[in-house]
Amino acid sequence: SLLSSEPRPQPAKPHALLIPYPAQGHVNPFLKLAKALHARGFHVTFVNTEYNHGRLLRARGAGAFDAGAEGLRFETIPDGLPPSGLDATQDIWALCEATRRTGPAAVRALVERLDRTDGVPPVSCVVADGAMGYAVHVAKEMGLPAYIFFTHSACGFVAYLNFDQLVKRGYVPFKDESCFTNGYLDTPVDWMGGMLPGARLRDLPTFIRTTDPDDTMLTIIIKQCELDSPVADGILLNTFDELERRALDATRARLPNNFTVGPLGPDVYPPSYLPSLTSSLWRDDERCAAWLDGFDDGAAGSVLYVNFGSITVVTSEQMDEFAWGLAASGCPFLWVVRPDMVRDGGGWALPEGFAEEVGARGLTVGWCDQEAVLEHPATGGFLSHCGWNSTLESLRAGVPLLCWPFFSEQVTNARYACDEWGVGLEMPREVGRDQVEAVVRELMAADGRGAAARRRAAEWKEKAKAAVAPGGSSRDNLERFVQEIASRAA
Ligand code: UDX
Repeated sequence: SLLSSEPRPQPAKPHALLIPYPAQGHVNPFLKLAKALHARGFHVTFVNTEYNHGRLLRARGAGAFDAGAEGLRFETIPDGLPPSGLDATQDIWALCEATRRTGPAAVRALVERLDRTDGVPPVSCVVADGAMGYAVHVAKEMGLPAYIFFTHSACGFVAYLNFDQLVKRGYVPFKDESCFTNGYLDTPVDWMGGMLPGARLRDLPTFIRTTDPDDTMLTIIIKQCELDSPVADGILLNTFDELERRALDATRARLPNNFTVGPLGPDVYPPSYLPSLTSSLWRDDERCAAWLDGFDDGAAGSVLYVNFGSITVVTSEQMDEFAWGLAASGCPFLWVVRPDMVRDGGGWALPEGFAEEVGARGLTVGWCDQEAVLEHPATGGFLSHCGWNSTLESLRAGVPLLCWPFFSEQVTNARYACDEWGVGLEMPREVGRDQVEAVVRELMAADGRGAAARRRAAEWKEKAKAAVAPGGSSRDNLERFVQEIASRAA
């Protein structure tokens, strides 16, 4: 009582256990969420796979994760895959199957161990990736609040929410492989709640366009997360209301406890917060900033940045066409060529004569600090595969896109970037050097469609920053999420 001299027991610090799907495009937004929660007084445990954690340590130096992060700790679980020489993040089907098989027992054991650890508050909530939905079930069995964080776009997410309708109306599963080539993909599906006008089957995430309704990815995303009647207490999305209003309205009609908190990043924690904690699985090439400085003439960015994300694999022929198209465009470019990006014929090397042709106008690196590159004033365009992180990071930096999507909801993101947000020009799937040259020139031009996309990108940059600034929709949602999970810890 108030009259007693006994000290009152302090409520335990809330402790969030964050479980990203173990690939670059997922650990990045999860680490930002981790910092946002930590900055708001949470104890945070970030769960990496052993494989990825080893890579992080190699990329950052062994001590990087020991210093300066009281209360933000990393733990590891196995990914369930046998050791192999290949990058485990790139066979997403195998990785999804393996994590789903071995994850539940590992997460349960981890929570039990953390709860026995002195000095660590008991786990009070689990935030699991949309592709790690099994962890929600484990959390619920252990009596813990559990949330799902979908790290991709709401426009992609809403397509999964409509999967049952697509099946009921007979659009999927596809009858056979001919559906991919006979024009069927052009069938309109803009009756789907939340989709943009004119949307066609080809604009839906590739996992949906399948002949197999039991496809692993659909099972993981739709069935395991039980989107029809979710077990999770709520969902988080790394987007903002103004950007995806239509898709978010449709999402909220089905899943009301919904928190749009994007773009997650340095706006939602103090400047230079825990700088040694970064999530790149590759080592950044440190030449990029100085090279870009050489093209910063104070005017609008003149450099095209080219990067297809962390898992895309392309052919040597495609790389050759890009190389010669970039050379012919006359545009300065920073091109990220991951060492494992070409798998046919023992890898790929820049074609003979290319380096001489482009000289100091081109820089090719294996990996870079992408957000720093996009924020650099010299960067004026982004040739991208439209992974959601890349798309959002580009919008936040006000950089227009050349869209060359591959799979998953990248195709949906690209459609929105071009037709809804007005920040992108589309590149055909089969693209030759002449088309590469033409579209690069068009995007980087001071007039026409490129200039229009640049203007729209500058507008979205302001809107994105406003969303995460105090009083913005994403900031409000983040604080509301924080209060909700903190109150459940008390
Ligand atoms: C995948 C899917 O492509 C994407 O559609 C889905 O939404 C998430 O998972 P990925 O292909 O890796 O991700 O692309 P993306 O979502 O763009 O994520 C890549 C991340 O790596 C970005 O945060 C980007 O900043 C970072 N990156 C990439 C670097 O820091 N440096 C690089 O050189 C390349």
